[in-house]
Amino acid sequence: MEKTFLMIKPDGVQRGLIGEIVKRFEQKGFQLVASKLMVINRELAELHYAEHKGKDFFELLVKFITSGPVFAMVWEGDQVIALSRTMIGKTNSLEAAPGTIRGDFAVHTRLNLIHGSDSPESAEREIGNFFKPEEFVTYNKAI
Ligand code: CMP
Repeated sequence: MEKTFLMIKPDGVQRGLIGEIVKRFEQKGFQLVASKLMVINRELAELHYAEHKGKDFFELLVKFITSGPVFAMVWEGDQVIALSRTMIGKTNSLEAAPGTIRGDFAVHTRLNLIHGSDSPESAEREIGNFFKPEEFVTYNKAI
């Protein structure tokens, strides 16, 4: 079963949107298999955003993502990587469609509430950056 890494950013946590965002993925039919509320240090931020190093927004991005608690999650389900990206909406705030998380709740390209892995390779790398194997749960059939 496919897994993806999703992270509610400091603006989403501060605005009390954890419940709203988690609800959307639950209602879609995906399963939460790992999660934690945590503060990211600079080292982890640079690792997570390594592909953006050198871009003009990199420093502000690192400052923002380390500015307060984030809610890191791993979700499992059929095509969860691509479908969660659709549910999140475009990065550019002007292109995030209504009905998506960013389209409904965000107005800023950097303060855009949530991160989602963009490919199977990114998902594997990002999950490994944030979670150890023992932090995952398995679900048994309800009794
Ligand atoms: P995310 O999905 O976490 O991946 C990289 C992040 O960089 C992105 O969300 C935005 O928060 C941020 N980002 C991407 N492009 C820009 C930009 N042009 N200006 C500011 N921030 C950006």
